[in-house]
Amino acid sequence: MRLSPTDPSSYSNAHELIIHHVDLDWKVNFEKCTISGKAALHFKTLKDDVEEIFLDSSELKIISITVKTSAGEIPLSWDIGAHVENIGSKLTVYLPSKTSGELVVVVEYETDPKASALQWLTAEQTCGKKHPYLFSQCQAIHARSVLPCQDSPAVKFTYNATIHHPSNVIGLMSAVKKASKPKVSYFEQKIPIPSYLLAIVVGALVEKTIGPISSVWAEKEQIEEAAEEFSQTADFISKAEEICGPYVWGRYDLLVMPPSFPFGGMENPCLTFVTPTLLAGDKSLATVVAHEIAHSWTGNLVTNRNFEHFWLNEGFTVFVEQKIVGRLFGSAVRDFHALHGLSELTDCIKTQLSATPELTKLVVDLSECSPDDAFSTVPYIKGSTFLRYLEDLFDGPAKFEPFFRSYLNKFKYQSVLTSDFRTALYEWFRADPANEVLLERIDWDQWLFGQGLPPVIPNYDRSLLDACKKHATLWADNELDSIKSSSILTEKLTSIQTIEFLAQLLDKKKIKDLTSEKIELLGQTYDLHATRNSELRFRFVRLYIRARMMDKMDEILSFLNSNFRMKFVRPIYKELAGWQEAKPIAVANYNKVKDQMMSMCAYGVSKDLDI
Ligand code: BES
Ligand code: ZN
Repeated sequence: MRLSPTDPSSYSNAHELIIHHVDLDWKVNFEKCTISGKAALHFKTLKDDVEEIFLDSSELKIISITVKTSAGEIPLSWDIGAHVENIGSKLTVYLPSKTSGELVVVVEYETDPKASALQWLTAEQTCGKKHPYLFSQCQAIHARSVLPCQDSPAVKFTYNATIHHPSNVIGLMSAVKKASKPKVSYFEQKIPIPSYLLAIVVGALVEKTIGPISSVWAEKEQIEEAAEEFSQTADFISKAEEICGPYVWGRYDLLVMPPSFPFGGMENPCLTFVTPTLLAGDKSLATVVAHEIAHSWTGNLVTNRNFEHFWLNEGFTVFVEQKIVGRLFGSAVRDFHALHGLSELTDCIKTQLSATPELTKLVVDLSECSPDDAFSTVPYIKGSTFLRYLEDLFDGPAKFEPFFRSYLNKFKYQSVLTSDFRTALYEWFRADPANEVLLERIDWDQWLFGQGLPPVIPNYDRSLLDACKKHATLWADNELDSIKSSSILTEKLTSIQTIEFLAQLLDKKKIKDLTSEKIELLGQTYDLHATRNSELRFRFVRLYIRARMMDKMDEILSFLNSNFRMKFVRPIYKELAGWQEAKPIAVANYNKVKDQMMSMCAYGVSKDLDI
């Protein structure tokens, strides 16, 4: 079912009227685990005589709804529909008379303690153990559990917020802080944003400056480590500006989240959220920050109009991320990142999406599927591969980047569909008649709606990949003694190469003599036993599972419980579910820790475990 003409995942009648500004006045209540207060929604009608407003909501307790008029606030009647899983409920607000022009609707309400976008941590669950902690994760369609709104990326609004919170914690939002007193903080976001970019955190946070417009925020135990790990932030921003144009958001701060943060990073404007699993000690995972910085243009300025066109956010962002990597570390490293992405995509199509091949299309149909259920690396990797294909087709960055900037400039502050991108591409390249034959070569249907791997694999520089392949073949095809004496081992791998090598090894149908002795040696050879690199640990743990090493179960569970980042825990639970003796242990562990997970992670794992 398509809930509205503009967005299959939103009830809003955004074709009739749209929210363009929101004023929030919130009280953060750690005893009750609620946010309560008021949201003043400023609407602009797009047609005459609007009679009803349809809003998205999820488990909100609505106290009152009024409309502001010159004679004061007038109460409105409203009606809330049944709760639909993964979607929430339709909130209908009845206007007193047919309305045109501007109107301000004020909703007084309270969130549910189980609001899907909010994670409430007790003091004991934090590093410092002294103060409770709250954070939000609204993407894709969880903002509706925090405020009644048109929860569709087709709609963009500016916002101001007043946040009341206990005096011993700090509040931050996806906005610029205007002022703060001990118990109240004031924020302003002057650039229109989609609802999924609304974000809040409240906790015992400290700040350290890491660049001209950047600080890193974390609990004090992690602040020094975080400042060091993310010291390249300013360089990433300046490369991104070369590629995309001026940075318009004022500040770019980073916030190191608690380990239950379900993603690697989230591009909340002015304040990117990142998982603590990026703290590898050697900056080897910092490219996630380059990715979130790139979203400041692709996603946050030019936004997918609904999540069927999610590749316009993520594919474009990976493309820019890899350009940043290329400018800082060279084109061989850029291409290696692209190839590594392709091997992740291959794995994802084979495992995660084996039962739902229609989700391997670049543009998906979300009329029967929630964005959370459709989430995969397909929009990221197939999308960025498509852009690289186009860049190569039009003779490389010198010709393609000016177009890319013009696309961003043309659609900034707006929301787009794939057809907008296509039209802009034709308009730009048609200026030179010689491009006509190139434009005709693009098989749009295959790229956008074909299933499986990308129809064309660009001609990448494979030099850094070859070493990974050699190492993987060595370990898969040989016995211990010949491995020990192999000259291949003298060629050292970087951490991302080691990640790729392990991915290749895990992808092998058969690994010869996969004994604990062999895994032990492998761990020593690549320094995996003590590594702080979570991507390495993730794959090493999967080797234990592959080898059915019951004696390593404690180590497996300890990794599973050290963070609740979905990218790591979901595949591991899924693999444990396929190992008969381990499944009950995995289920018991899940039941023990699920209350510490964010709802979207617990939901995903329950599906992976078939419960
Ligand atoms: N915007 C995404 C995270 C997201 C996507 C949250 C969809 C909710 C729904 C973010 O920019 C992202 O892509 N994060 C990646 C890291 C990136 C380097 C690929 C992640 O979390 O792993
Ligand atoms: Zn992203």
